[in-house]
Formats: sequence, structure tokens, C-alpha cells
Amino acid sequence: MATVEAIGKRPRRRDRPELLITAVSTQPVLFNNTVLRDGHQSMAATRMTTPQMLPAAPILDGMGFYGLETWGGATIDSCLRFLNENPFERLRTLKKVAPKTPQLMLLRGQNIVQYASFPDDVVEAFVKCTADGGMDIFRIFDALNDIRNLHTAIRAVKKSGKHARGELCYTLSPVHTVDNFVKMGVELEKLGCDSIGIKDMSGIIQPQVAYRLVKELKGKIGIPITLHTHDTAGLGAASYLAAIEAGVDCVEVSIVPFANGTSQPDTQRMLALLEGHPRCPSFDSAKLAELRDYFEGVYEQLSKFTSPANERVDSDILIFQVPGGMLSNFRNQLKEQGMSDKFNEVVREIPVVREALGWVPLVTPTSQIVGTQAMMNVKFGRWKMICQPAQDIALGKYGKTPGPIDPGVLAQVERQTGKKPVTERPADLLPPGMDKYRKQCEEKGLPTDDETVVLFAMFPQQVETLLKTPAAKAAPAAVATPVASAAPSAPAPTPAPPAPKGPGRHLVLTLNGKRHDVTVETLEG
Ligand code: CO
Repeated sequence: MATVEAIGKRPRRRDRPELLITAVSTQPVLFNNTVLRDGHQSMAATRMTTPQMLPAAPILDGMGFYGLETWGGATIDSCLRFLNENPFERLRTLKKVAPKTPQLMLLRGQNIVQYASFPDDVVEAFVKCTADGGMDIFRIFDALNDIRNLHTAIRAVKKSGKHARGELCYTLSPVHTVDNFVKMGVELEKLGCDSIGIKDMSGIIQPQVAYRLVKELKGKIGIPITLHTHDTAGLGAASYLAAIEAGVDCVEVSIVPFANGTSQPDTQRMLALLEGHPRCPSFDSAKLAELRDYFEGVYEQLSKFTSPANERVDSDILIFQVPGGMLSNFRNQLKEQGMSDKFNEVVREIPVVREALGWVPLVTPTSQIVGTQAMMNVKFGRWKMICQPAQDIALGKYGKTPGPIDPGVLAQVERQTGKKPVTERPADLLPPGMDKYRKQCEEKGLPTDDETVVLFAMFPQQVETLLKTPAAKAAPAAVATPVASAAPSAPAPTPAPPAPKGPGRHLVLTLNGKRHDVTVETLEG
């Protein structure tokens, strides 16, 4: 494999970017491992159970990863909805078996791990419970990149003495320029973030852009920078290499078979790519191979939820600028709607909807909203019917959109709803919620501790079902066993739910008296 020195000696063309010529740092780049969160969220509809994680967690803990992403995103929804697990028990259990490496979670700012805005006191209580449960690093993002939606979560994380990583949701649009992302990074540092994450949930950041963005951020801010991408279009590893050349501090990798494709690049693959590079970190290959063998078994157990479509590297995404997971969800949803023949039309409608809604990035929850609206535009005619969450985006209820809302669409939403857009931070319009939710828990005969109350605030029915089902009250019972003996048989798969769907929400739309069911799935990135 060519070394950096060798590449550096090649004649340099004048129009060639500075790529691969100079490494700005000789510090080994840090790796975070995502297999216990984004890995299975991206490849297996977030269905990995705590017992399936337990044999691997202590091994991952001893390998020298800077951090392990284990929680947040769709995992909480999935624990409650499909796995009959208490998510806080998962957090505590993983912390117990993997105490040495900082653990990371993905937090949707004011949406916590749901789709709508929650009052500040609910966000604060959630962060405190999570910090107390052992979480170390909070990746905090807002789907619109509206920094006001990150304030409360950042403050709460800092108050708990934990690490706040402010995320820039990377997307392509006329208003998403490198300069604007750099400005956001500067603001996040000013707000007290301990580090910055570039969150490329769709896997569309190209090496040259990753290089420029990291380089310019490095020139403006003093806190560490992590790049998080997905290999959906096959750009992931190359973009990591470019970012490493530009001085990025950390990149996020997973483990095959929960790696590559719509997930993060595989750890071994990144190591091979970096071999001979001055910033190549050192990992025990034999242990990585052991983990890979173990996860092959888990992948097999989760075969109802895996799909070749997730494994495939497909540059379609660069043409449609739509996250890969969203495309595969669409195929299923359109089939359910009897609209399979409309796939291309719907995908082509997505940028139209995005532009009208102020070029919102496509990440939970906006990806679902834009996707649903694109389907409705094709099904009923463009803007003939506007779903409520899309109306809410237009009315500023999710925050300030990156670009302006299309005036025609806004006028129609105002007519339909009789409402004017709001300019306040959405959570400023919400009264405190903890007392209300605590009272509701009490009325339902549920515990009234903060953990139960914050979960109930987000997932009332699921929490009630979980806590009233006797078998579910207990923490996951499996005991960590050495990988070698555990791999072929130990972690019993959780009884499979009927359909291979990710966590998400179900919308019922009624038009001219006819009922239309739409399931929108989580797409976290
Ligand atoms: Co991701």
C-alpha cells in the first residue's frame, strides 16, 4: 500500500487540491465505535438487544476506542416499542460491563429522542437522568441546525459535568455553505460545547469538502472536531482520510457486518486505509476479528431486519441527495400505499418539498416530514394537501429554517390553519411539563421518579405497557460471557415483531372521507 510520503512525492498538479500532501498533525486520529448504536440502527432497524451487546461490550471497552456510541437516537424508541427493554437499564448495564471507555449518545436537542419539541424542564430532567445513568458524551443536534434548539441541552449537559458535543447537520443546498457551517461551529464553541461533530447522516460529504470544512473549522475554533459519516455512497472512508489530513481529531467507525453501506466504515477497513500514515492509530487486529465473528452471529439473528439494500454502496444518493435509508423506507411505504410505480416521481419531489420548506436538512424528524409530504404531493397533486408536521415547519414551530419558506406554500398554510408563523424559540411557547407528566404517571399507577416521567413524556403508551408487563420490569437478564463461547448460540433473539420496520410513527391521513395510513420511519444518521 502506498504511503503518504510516496504519494507526496508525485508531481503536484496546480489544480489539484492540497489533499494527501501534508498531514497537519502527527497525533494518531481517535476512533469512536458506533456498532452498539448507529451500526445496528443503520443496518438492522435498531433491533440489537442488550443481551446481544453484552458479550461484545467488555471487549470493545478494552481496545482503545476514544468513545463507544451506545445509546440515544432511535434506540430508546426501539427498546420500548419492540424489545420490551427499559432503556435506562440498558444504559446502566452497558456502563457496568464497559466502564473504562466514555460512552456516547445521540440527542435530538429540544426533541430529546422524539419528534416534537419538549419543554425545557423535560429536556433538563432527561439529561440529568442520562448523566446519572452513566452517559459521558452527548452528541446534540437540531434537524434545522437552529442553534436555539440546542441551548437547553448544552446547558444541562454542562451542568451535569459531562461532555457536550455540538453537531452540525451536514447537508447540501444553496444555503448550506462551508462558511455557514464554520459560523455555526464558532457559535457552538461560544455556547460552551466541549467538541464539535460534523454529522453527515446521509453520507454525502465528499473528501474535498470534508478537508475544507475541517481545515476552516480548525482555523476558527480551538475545541476538538469529530467527523461522523455513513458509507452509503461509498465516500465514507475517503472522506475520513481527507478529514484526517486536514487535522480532524476523531472519526467514527463500526464493525462488519454492522458497518459500511448505510452504516459507518468498518474499523479494520479504516486501519488498512491508514496503514503507514503518520496518524494511523493502533488496534489489536485479532480482537477486532473476534468481534467481527461475534457480530456475524448477531447479524444472522437479526436477519428479519437486515437488508441487502443497506449493505449496497449506491451513488444514487448523490443524485437524489436523499439519505440511503430513506430511499429503502420509501420503497416499502410506497408498496403499502399501492404506489410502487410512483417511486421515481416521489423521489424527484423531495427536493421540491425541501426547497419550499426552507431547505431543511433531511434528518429525523424532518426527513420523515419531507418524505411524507413528497408522497402526498405525488398522490394528491402538489400542495393540494399539506400534512400537519409540514405545516408546522412552515409556521416555524420546529425553529428557524435554513432558508426562507416558499411564500405560496406559506400563504396556503396560513389560510388552512388560520395561524401566522412564530419567530420565538419553539420551546419558549411551551409551559413546564414535568409536573403534568408526573401527575399523569401517578394517575396511571406508574412510578413517578424522573426516569419514568421523562420516558412517559415521550412514549406514554409504550412506557405504560412496559412497566405493567411483569416480565419487562426486570433488567435484561443476560450475563456477559466471553465472545468465543457466546458467538454461536448465547444471545437469544428477542421474539420478532411482525414487520421489519424501524422505530417511527404512524400517521393516519383522511382525504375526502378516505383513510390513508402512512408509516414514517426514523432516519437518524
Ligand atoms: Co449516523
